[in-house]
Amino acid sequence: MSSISSIKAFTTLALNDDNLKYFIGRKRIVGDMLSLILDHQNFGVTGAPGTGKTTLFNFLKSELESTKNFKRKHKVLSFPFTIPNTADFLKRLLFILLENLKQSDVKKIDLSKIKDDYLYTNGIQEFLRSLVRYEPSRELDAYQVLRLYSDFLINEMKNASPSKTVKFLSPDKLLFVIVKILKNLKKHLIFFVDDIDKVIYDPLTNSTSENRLASFLFELKEIMELSNTTWVFTLPLDFYNKYKISFNKPESTSFLGIFSDIFLLHNFTRKRTVDLLRTRLGFSNFEGKIIDYIDSYSLNLLLDLSRGNPRLFLYFLLKAFKFKESIKDNLLQEEFVEIENETDDSRIKVNHILSSIDYIFKLDDRNKKILAYIAYKQSVDSGNHSLQEKTGLDRLSLNRRLKELTEAGILDYFLDQYGKRIYITRKLT
Ligand SMILES: Nc1ncnc2c1ncn2[C@@H]1O[C@H](COP(=O)(O)OP(=O)(O)OP(=O)(O)O)[C@@H](O)[C@H]1O
Ligand SMILES: [Mg+2]
Repeated sequence: MSSISSIKAFTTLALNDDNLKYFIGRKRIVGDMLSLILDHQNFGVTGAPGTGKTTLFNFLKSELESTKNFKRKHKVLSFPFTIPNTADFLKRLLFILLENLKQSDVKKIDLSKIKDDYLYTNGIQEFLRSLVRYEPSRELDAYQVLRLYSDFLINEMKNASPSKTVKFLSPDKLLFVIVKILKNLKKHLIFFVDDIDKVIYDPLTNSTSENRLASFLFELKEIMELSNTTWVFTLPLDFYNKYKISFNKPESTSFLGIFSDIFLLHNFTRKRTVDLLRTRLGFSNFEGKIIDYIDSYSLNLLLDLSRGNPRLFLYFLLKAFKFKESIKDNLLQEEFVEIENETDDSRIKVNHILSSIDYIFKLDDRNKKILAYIAYKQSVDSGNHSLQEKTGLDRLSLNRRLKELTEAGILDYFLDQYGKRIYITRKLT
């Protein structure tokens, strides 16, 4: 019997240069995005967690790298931090620029001088922060504070060469310095800013995250509009819903005048999710068809449970696989137990899936039996005698459980011709 040689291909992490060969689909969106980038247009990407935004960014970057003449005229940088306020964002941005640009990438400005100023500013910020944090408990008097400050200065000056004057970068000056660097770049800069969609609600200002993000982006407008930079952002879904082009609200059709487009990454269709599995199995040296690896009832159950989210699909699959392997080991240990009648079927089966996800969906044994029944028979109603018998539940209790599983989002129902509820696993809509 064929088996997979490693589970590496089933990673739930974003694909990167080492495994972009697993990338599938998204052809049209990739084409549209690449041409926007080559036209130097800013745009946003949005989608539910785990739909593949980071993976898509990595794919775009690698496509750009291999585009003819691209590297001669462009430089690509990434901003992988979740930072919701402008001052911290600009500070990180300057740091990334200083880390990644060489003196030969810019004209007219002295990067090493800016680096000194940056380090000095960072040092003084850390110094002040430590004072605020420790001073009350240490009960320093004013004189001691001054002494600490002078120690700090002496230390800083020792590191800087005496011929250089070091200047403190105030927050307004930060923007000025960044604009100066960007304007003097010899190449066009493409900036990928991931995870801005993780910006959360701020209870202090009582503003919703999409409003806060909008004002954050407005503050960055000056740099995002520079003609020799292009910005690609991940954006939260609620931001997209608020600012997307809507024909009913023509006054809001501008994406804030910052993005020329915002792309919504849709969930995978069933067909594409199966394609994902086929691709990953292929790279795991699995010889055989998909149904030699997982039986069709289980595959359908997994497809329903993960609802087109590639990360969830891979996560559930991997869990089921590991669960199956763990009980196989047990069987080997107890080889004396009579297993002669067992067929040599090493596929992932419904019980593996249900057992590996029971804690996520809080399934007890009876609920597992209900779900297994539906996985095999497609649908069920509370009057089903066979299921009542299997679970030891009467009609009322079964009915209650079916309702609860529906409220939990696992099941769905439709009404048959007599108005009776027929329960099925919830499908992707
Ligand atoms: N186009 C694709 N082809 C193959 N696999 C994909 C694709 N898109 C996403 N995946 C898989 O889905 C999983 C999640 O992808 P990724 O981390 O890029 O999502 P994300 O949208 O950035 O998530 P988050 O919102 O949590 O940052 C990964 O395991 C990745 O391998
Ligand atoms: Mg991501």
